Amino acid sequence: AQLDKYAKLAGLSYFGTAVDNPRLSNEQYMSVLQGSGEFGSLTPINAQKWKNIEEVQGVFTWTEADAVANTAKAGVGGTKTLRCHTMVWYKGLPSWVETTYSRADMEKILTAHIQNLAWHFKGRCYAWDVVNEAIDDNGVFRQSPMYKAMGLDFITFSFNTAAKADPSAKLYYNDYALESPSLSPGPKISITLAMLRTVKAQGGTIHGVGFQSHLKVGLVPSRAEIVSTMQQFLEAVDEVAITELDIRHSPLKLPSTRAMWDAQARDYGEVVGACLEVNKGYGGGRKCVGVTVWDFTDKYSWVPSEIPTEGEACMWDNNYVKKPAYWTVLNLFKAY
Ligand code: G3I
Repeated sequence: AQLDKYAKLAGLSYFGTAVDNPRLSNEQYMSVLQGSGEFGSLTPINAQKWKNIEEVQGVFTWTEADAVANTAKAGVGGTKTLRCHTMVWYKGLPSWVETTYSRADMEKILTAHIQNLAWHFKGRCYAWDVVNEAIDDNGVFRQSPMYKAMGLDFITFSFNTAAKADPSAKLYYNDYALESPSLSPGPKISITLAMLRTVKAQGGTIHGVGFQSHLKVGLVPSRAEIVSTMQQFLEAVDEVAITELDIRHSPLKLPSTRAMWDAQARDYGEVVGACLEVNKGYGGGRKCVGVTVWDFTDKYSWVPSEIPTEGEACMWDNNYVKKPAYWTVLNLFKAY
């Protein structure tokens, strides 16, 4: 059973997972990650975030980010694509960035930061999440230090700086709750689409939109709804991807039952199915390029540490046993 192999046969470029550095020394984790060819792409969960790269201005720590990049290179299951994450985000900032800057100073700081990341990993990143989560759940631009200094222009500026620094990487805007209007109470989707059009009108280079897809069992939009949202975004950009998929039980009632996991499996099928389905509409062209899960085992999911009453969001359980979601996704790929 190899998710990545069958994902490729079904027309995607990769099936990938996100990884964080502490896992890289866990043998059992690594045997799933590397041994069986399940994953054709890796995304560093935290290692490339600004705070981890440049906690002190001008002092760079690449060790952890390099470790993930090298894992992608050295994969026993073959070389993996690297999705790079993330350059400009309102979270994960070093404290020296979290202060008030003039527009001119912020332009210098952003230029240096984006160049540092892009040059260090040049030729290694299939894609960069250049800007992450710039718009909140109500469709309002988040008051990040970048926004405060430059207004909306920080977005075009970031994309263009990234485009010059690494012309071969696909440049993405990445966010959650873009998968369907049913997930965002406010006008998040329409504001995001308007923002993308503004970036383009300002001459910005932007290739893709990442649908994070941190979802809840029972509240996942249907395949058709997700396809229709993806089609809307594909009028603004060349490609889309599922970039941080996990589907948590909310609330998580323990002990979990087979019925809960079956419901989760159906939901995984809707999201992954949408990615496969959207490609059909473009004459066999690849428009939803791949799926990345935000780690594959419940043992290391981000959910319980941030939302203690929710969890079991992944395709493998705490003990690395494949859950129904795994088999649903694999069978979906095989059927395509
Ligand atoms: O590494 C330190 C450790 O030294 C320290 O002892 C510990 C104490 O809290 O913190 C550790 O850092 C934490 C890090 O995860 C590693 O576990 C940070 O506090 C914590 O904020 C960080 O959370 C990450 C979060 O992004 C914020 O950067 C999550 O792991 C990560 O899964 C999450 O990922 C985000 C995506 O980047 C964007 N989309 C949403 C997604 C989920 O929130």
